[in-house]
Amino acid sequence: MFSVRKFEPNDMFSVIKLASETLTEKYNPTIFNYFYETFREYFLVAESAHKIISFIIGAEINSSKIKILMLSVSKKYRRKKVGNTILKELEKIILKKGINDIELEVRTKNNTAIKFYQKNGYKIKNKMGNYYQNGENAYIMRKKI
Ligand SMILES: CC(C)(COP(=O)(O)OP(=O)(O)OC[C@H]1O[C@@H](n2cnc3c(N)ncnc32)[C@H](O)[C@@H]1OP(=O)(O)O)[C@@H](O)C(=O)NCCC(=O)NCCS
Repeated sequence: MFSVRKFEPNDMFSVIKLASETLTEKYNPTIFNYFYETFREYFLVAESAHKIISFIIGAEINSSKIKILMLSVSKKYRRKKVGNTILKELEKIILKKGINDIELEVRTKNNTAIKFYQKNGYKIKNKMGNYYQNGENAYIMRKKI
């Protein structure tokens, strides 16, 4: 059992910990505060037994496009539709804002995430070389909701 809700400042430590455990890119912890201050309506968490098990952050690129900046599910809770649920909640919020174009970047090697996003209707649109800190390539994926 889990529920999805908006990120709250008290979740900060758990989100930073989850990001460092599950995401390849290393982020300066202050960036999460910036995302909260700037894009709080698109910053969601999933909680199970008072524990943060997932988060997603979207950013408004312009009045018609959102970019998903980060999505993470705790290893122990994967393949239980947590990712699906938190993504769908974010899509609902985006649609309510009258925005229907969602974009994201994913490592070309991250087959799990690519399959996950494809299952959720996202399509590969482009490839960007040398995109990440370690020189890996990215696919740009997109969905019209
Ligand atoms: C990608 C990620 C968010 C998926 O979260 P999740 O909660 O495990 O995904 P779900 O249970 O909602 O999966 C939904 C569907 O996606 C696909 N999928 C998810 N994980 C998969 C895997 N390891 N292999 C193949 N397909 C997969 C399946 O079609 C799955 O449906 P099914 O279980 O009925 O077959 C999670 O693996 C994760 O946090 N990965 C590390 C961080 C990351 O890569 N983030 C995304 C890039 S920013």
